[in-house]
Amino acid sequence: MTKTKKPWDGRFAEPTDKNVERFTASIDFDRQLYRYDIEGSIAHCRMLAKQGIISDEDEKKILTGLGDILNDMEKGKLDLDCALEDIHMAVESFLIDRVGEAGGKLHTGRSRNDQVALDIRMYLRDEVKDVMGLIGILQEALHKLAKEHMETIMPGYTHLQKAQPVLLSHYLLAYWEMFKRDSERFGECLKRINVMPLGSGALAGTGLPIDRKYVAQLLDFPVITKNSMDAVSDRDFIAEFVFDAGLTIMHMSRFCEDLILWSTEEFGYVEIADSFTTGSSIMPQKKNPDVAELIRGKTGRIYGNLITILTILKGLPMTYNRDLQEDKEPLFDTVHTLKSSLSILSEMAGNVKFDCEKMRKRALEGFSTATDMAEYLVMKGVPFRESHRLAGKIVAYCIEKNKDLSSLDVAELKNFYGGFDEDVYKYLTVEESVNVKNVPGGTSKEMVSKRSKEIESNRD
Ligand code: ARG
Repeated sequence: MTKTKKPWDGRFAEPTDKNVERFTASIDFDRQLYRYDIEGSIAHCRMLAKQGIISDEDEKKILTGLGDILNDMEKGKLDLDCALEDIHMAVESFLIDRVGEAGGKLHTGRSRNDQVALDIRMYLRDEVKDVMGLIGILQEALHKLAKEHMETIMPGYTHLQKAQPVLLSHYLLAYWEMFKRDSERFGECLKRINVMPLGSGALAGTGLPIDRKYVAQLLDFPVITKNSMDAVSDRDFIAEFVFDAGLTIMHMSRFCEDLILWSTEEFGYVEIADSFTTGSSIMPQKKNPDVAELIRGKTGRIYGNLITILTILKGLPMTYNRDLQEDKEPLFDTVHTLKSSLSILSEMAGNVKFDCEKMRKRALEGFSTATDMAEYLVMKGVPFRESHRLAGKIVAYCIEKNKDLSSLDVAELKNFYGGFDEDVYKYLTVEESVNVKNVPGGTSKEMVSKRSKEIESNRD
């Protein structure tokens, strides 16, 4: 059978063991690279003809053959048997089946080592652009929510202990900033992905008069790799992409964790729409935030994929080693996991309802304006360390008397410090507490609206 005949079988006296064939094959997963493989081959073939390495006639035959294979692949017509080993050999063997001898000229001046590096870079640059688009959509969803909550006050936490009142919009835009950095990181990573490796051959380059820059131009790469040994063994861009994905899903996971916590009866700050929750098979009263939990859980997959990639690379002698075939599954899984998580989270963000009343009420509790009281005293000339101690004593007094800060009268306050006046109460409301934080980056309504407008007009 021509199909199972290996293109490299010249020096072999025996056929490959069936189990070895199955074990070494990557076609079950690298088949998804077929478009890039064919596109890369078309560019390579055009370059070979331009350089006079193959004839125009052979070029025509090869290009027609590759076009037909692409069509049949799109329609799922081709049987990708594991005897074909990988997508590169599959396409080449289909080509030889169709156009005969001319097909055997396609692999001139090329190795699967530079070919696979090309395919994966083409694949990943497309996916990175998609990912950046999806991050943009999530940012928009968060910004939209933030605009709806420019006045909503919530308790801000540190150590998961109530700390100071903040605007819900400030909280939401905090995530916007994280995703902005994530998107920038992918943009940086793209520069290193978008480098054309073909022409590096197996590891040393080729003796044939190829034109690498022409191939780069045809495939829309701004630059070519500068060292053939590096080019066939470099998978840094994959490790970098998976790390960037890890940070992005970590940010999503933290947001999800808040949503999970806040949708408990104990917090009750948010309600996720029925369409984005699931029920329990045993407890009829339950409404579970599974989407958020799954995003949090899937974070582990991406971290795992990063460790997988780094471990594959760690001990590799120069240059290409078959270990590198193991880069694909963790990469594909990362792309899929990240994209599906980004999409569903953007949708879910439009399907949550915050209980603004409850948040505001909770923001008032727990002496959350004690720092404002201390800052009030600073304005009256008390050194901060002293004012901090005084406010702490007043909090202890309130706990003992079961009162809150704003229910103390001036006389009571004067027992602690003579300089207290009626004007202190203004500092003890949550609105005032929020609005005095009018430093750049602070939670005052003025600063948060300013940031929102910058975002709106792309001045970030
Ligand atoms: N399937 C291989 C991979 O993904 C392609 C390159 C194989 N090269 C080789 N010389 N065996 O890495």
